[in-house]
Amino acid sequence: MELNLLSRVFVLFAATHFGAATDLHRSVRQAPGSIFTVGNGEPCLGSDRNTGGVCLSRNQCNTQGGKAVGFCGVFATCCSLNACDVRTNTKVAVFINPPLTKESSGLECSYNVEINNNNVCQMRIDFETFNLAPPSTVDPVENVTQRPGYTCRNDIFQVTNLQANSDFLPPLCGDNNGQHLYVRVNASTNSRSIRINFKIADRNTQPNLPQATWKIKVTQLECFNTLGKYRDGIFEAITSSLPSTPLTSSADRDEYLIAPPGCLQYYPDRAGTFESFNYNRGSGPYIANLAYASCFKRTPDVCGIKLTAASFEMAYRQEENLYLDTDCQINPVTQGSLQSEDYLFIPESETTDGLRGSKFCGTSASNQIIASTPPGPLYVHFHSDNLVTDDIPEAGYRFNYNVLNNCYLKK
Ligand SMILES: *[C@@H]1O[C@H](CO)[C@@H](O)[C@H](O)[C@H]1NC(C)=O
Ligand SMILES: *[C@@H]1O[C@H](CO)[C@@H](O)[C@H](O)[C@H]1NC(C)=O
Repeated sequence: MELNLLSRVFVLFAATHFGAATDLHRSVRQAPGSIFTVGNGEPCLGSDRNTGGVCLSRNQCNTQGGKAVGFCGVFATCCSLNACDVRTNTKVAVFINPPLTKESSGLECSYNVEINNNNVCQMRIDFETFNLAPPSTVDPVENVTQRPGYTCRNDIFQVTNLQANSDFLPPLCGDNNGQHLYVRVNASTNSRSIRINFKIADRNTQPNLPQATWKIKVTQLECFNTLGKYRDGIFEAITSSLPSTPLTSSADRDEYLIAPPGCLQYYPDRAGTFESFNYNRGSGPYIANLAYASCFKRTPDVCGIKLTAASFEMAYRQEENLYLDTDCQINPVTQGSLQSEDYLFIPESETTDGLRGSKFCGTSASNQIIASTPPGPLYVHFHSDNLVTDDIPEAGYRFNYNVLNNCYLKK
């Protein structure tokens, strides 16, 4: 007789490891080649006790177009990184919004990040602070219940100059504190750089928009290590014999952070949280026209992932149903009236209510423990259309996750 899912998930839960949630921001303090490794990237105050900065080595500060405003750490400078047009090739770079007053708004800040060395294959962009104007849609029209989806029309963050058209990254905006994304790079291409762009709407003409602030950290990840093997995509097989944590050299740290191909986001820790873009502490709304994967590390002992929604509120196509699969996306493709196609794809899932499916919309993932036990990579895939319907909220989701290393698979 088979166990019901609730008790199975409980067993899985109890058997899951928790300890390895390694501190990500420890990972990248060390610039290669510097003995006095001082630029820990932590916030600091200038000697006027007023100007904010980031603790970096003098060299890092110079090459990032920063200005030393004081001292910090060991032999380090408190570096003000408020410049708006910066070109850098440091292994780790931090960019902070310039002071944005009403007079200075309506500007565009561009950061050109050039590849640090030929082994760099990915850049991880961490949004330590990210507050831009929220995504918006058109004003309501009487008796019209459907409108275009929420997109970034005022402040816009975008990464361009990417290696391949297929790497197109969506424009982002709103509240994305703590989020991150990955960009694939190729040292063999001519430009050897990516461009990170903030376009800030004029607050004189739109005084109701919130103030724009950001602090983003760009980490260049190297796909080769001391073994000299090409790692992207096949690194798991080679690294399984290496200690998983703590890692010491910067190449080992990179390996921990390198995402599988095709993942916009990557969560290498065994437990943590993730949420939709512009989750905005549960108010959303999520951004229209997105399709991206958030991936998790599948070490050899891992057989699945357990997801617990702190909140989950998405649009749906079919009311009064389970908000699963065909309630989230019609099949076959039909012409005519617009239907919602917003969903979170969680492959091979089973919920505590005994529901099985892969596409979740409406509120189907709320108040559930979901076990996703697919063969192959561990990921969820967010899909949003270009449609909002009055009275159907699109707040988004936030999940806690734990990888599972003990899956009682059904026969
Ligand atoms: C909206 O619908 C109501 C009721 O059907 C109707 O009386 C009204 O004229 C409509 N308004 C517009 C602008 O079409
Ligand atoms: C990098 O770019 C070069 C030159 O365009 C190309 O030949 C090579 O296949 C690319 N490598 C990867 C991993 O995409």
